[in-house]
Amino acid sequence: MTTTRPTRRLGTPPDPALLDPAERMGVDELRALQLLRLQETLGHAYANVPHYRRAFDAAGVHPDDCHELADLARFPTTSKADLRENYPFGMFAVPREQVRRVHASSGTTGRPTVVGYTEDDIATWATVMARSIRAAGGRAGDVLHNAYGYGLFTGGLGAHYGAEALGCTVVPVSGGMTPRQVQLITDFGPRVIMVTPSYMLAVIDEFEKQGIDPRSSTLQVGIFGAEPWTEQMRQEMEERLDIDAVDIYGLSEVMGPGIAQECVETKDGLHVWEDHFYPEVVDPLTTDVLAEGEQGELLFTSLTKQAMPVIRYRTRDLTRLLPGTARPGMRRIEKITGRTDDMIILRGVNLFPTQIEEVVLRTPGLSPHFSLELTTRGRMDHLTVHVEARPDCPPERRGPAAAEVQKAVKDTVGTSVEVDVVDPETLARSMGKLQRLFDHRARE
Ligand code: DLL
Repeated sequence: MTTTRPTRRLGTPPDPALLDPAERMGVDELRALQLLRLQETLGHAYANVPHYRRAFDAAGVHPDDCHELADLARFPTTSKADLRENYPFGMFAVPREQVRRVHASSGTTGRPTVVGYTEDDIATWATVMARSIRAAGGRAGDVLHNAYGYGLFTGGLGAHYGAEALGCTVVPVSGGMTPRQVQLITDFGPRVIMVTPSYMLAVIDEFEKQGIDPRSSTLQVGIFGAEPWTEQMRQEMEERLDIDAVDIYGLSEVMGPGIAQECVETKDGLHVWEDHFYPEVVDPLTTDVLAEGEQGELLFTSLTKQAMPVIRYRTRDLTRLLPGTARPGMRRIEKITGRTDDMIILRGVNLFPTQIEEVVLRTPGLSPHFSLELTTRGRMDHLTVHVEARPDCPPERRGPAAAEVQKAVKDTVGTSVEVDVVDPETLARSMGKLQRLFDHRARE
């Protein structure tokens, strides 16, 4: 099958004088800084968090055993379960009174995970977020429309303080009330928007519903993250909005948004802000460290966090480490295509929702709005892709479009799925992170 490579639109890099000193560091200087910070962090975690003391002791390692960065591999990993077991404040390494703010994950199953920040942590977070917005193409003086959710979710407040630190005028809209999002974008003239990619699509649709061409808006830069999205989705949003769409990554347990950021001048994966976060990629089954370029599960060790240091935190996100480009000293992670826990195993074949997104967006007549439903038929798992037709898709195109998706999934992933093309605006829209997968399989 031939796939047309999307033509890349690239943005203008920031003036080097604007960069933080760490963004200009060479690899050796950065590694030396990382080792110092790592040794301090291991000591801080061991001295102040009973969980780490127990875990290090059980593994027979001590912070004094860390003589070089590679020694980190001898230390135990940390998982979401460890955070849950120490709910709510047991992972804090400073007295609670020094914690200025907490955030928490939604906790769809069981207890939420709670994270805490000292005043210095909040300042560090604003610094890396400001750096991220600048790398994405934002500048001091820009109006920035922030539609990430405010509240316990780290997206809203994380982006907010970073944008203020950069010198932007922030419009703290949060998610939801889609018609009003369009009105505020139209009236306030933002140059930058920060929002999940799935909610961006809902806002673009609302522009069109109101008869306003989204390309005519003042927006020039979109900073999209908090959920996986593909190159095809980038192309869709860049074309429909006439913007540069760049990827931002982060997770609450490590800090929030702003751990890694794609640079607008290269759009080739996300530079990890390695002066604050040390990445490793490991085999998800054995946790053995993998070489640069190999795909596996991403782990992070915080290098400067005070309130809640994390040691080798298992993100469950799948990616690979790559050498730096736009910021040569800092490694990149490849755009994340899935998590170990949203991998669907369908009759023995592994499948990620992003693989379906790629196929759907390549198929004329189909919109980017789709959901995946898993059911049991007989003893077999069955996957149905429900996908909306585009409003201008003629009815006779729906059958062939469904057949094309079916064939492309069979050819690229190697498994059969059912494709159900539905009317426009019939599937649920997200206001933040989108739930794409609905698992209705019978449980034995
Ligand atoms: O989603 C933080 C964030 C907010 C990132 C706004 C970017 C923008 P959590 O709610 O803890 O934090 O969810 C973290 O979301 O482990 C990934 O699975 C996923 N994720 C975040 N960014 C991306 C991305 C925020 N750019 C989890 N691409 C992570 C793919 C992403 N997945």
